[in-house]
Amino acid sequence: MGFYENHVLPLIMDVALAGLKEDRQELISQASGNVLEIGMGNGVNLPFYTDLTNRIVGLEPCAAVVTKAKRKLHDWAEDGTLQLEKESYDLVVGGGEQLQFEDNSFDTIIASLVFCSIPDSATAAREALRVLKPGGKLLFFEHVRSPDQRMNRVQSFVNPFWKIFACGCSLTCDTETVFAEAGFKYNTITKFRNSKMSPPFAAWMIKGQATKPI
Ligand SMILES: C[S@@+](CC[C@H](N)C(=O)[O-])C[C@H]1O[C@@H](n2cnc3c(N)ncnc32)[C@H](O)[C@@H]1O
Repeated sequence: MGFYENHVLPLIMDVALAGLKEDRQELISQASGNVLEIGMGNGVNLPFYTDLTNRIVGLEPCAAVVTKAKRKLHDWAEDGTLQLEKESYDLVVGGGEQLQFEDNSFDTIIASLVFCSIPDSATAAREALRVLKPGGKLLFFEHVRSPDQRMNRVQSFVNPFWKIFACGCSLTCDTETVFAEAGFKYNTITKFRNSKMSPPFAAWMIKGQATKPI
């Protein structure tokens, strides 16, 4: 991982995604029990976990970004930003395609703006299903390809350049299908254009909840 990926892109993300606080709060407040957050980045969601949760594992493939998230966690624990004790969090290096956890070990999995960046998203979705307990929930908030044909063409055109700028993030993912094909069953799914997401060609989103069938 290079300087750009480790240090510059996380800063750009912080600015570009700064308007999403309420969306994040809404998503994370539904988490309960033992939680796995895949691709947590520099930990932006960590302050939103509530006392419905026991243990939160934050996973991120980039070691330098995990170090940053740990620093933030420490600061947030000091200034009272966290709702939970610092000891409730376990921030570790790892990728979504090969999860280092046993089958059926989490009650909730969080996918927040991450499946667009996972090179083999189908394998990562199957891994998420494997480590989730039967009846456990996948809470997702993901940007996806637009249902609008014109915007879809713009996304396809911009995508090769965007992938370089955003370190592999794709604008044209069909994450709804990826989750369904892995075996998740949707309880709720909302498809919408999020005016708080920028740039506009990255603003098409899905959010909701799916479960692992019992
Ligand atoms: C757009 S950032 C989102 C960060 C954070 N989840 C959020 O809500 O802001 C995408 C994240 O996916 C991570 N990522 C990239 N490849 C991954 C993989 N194979 N498995 C898990 N996470 C990955 C990146 O390192 C980055 O932190």
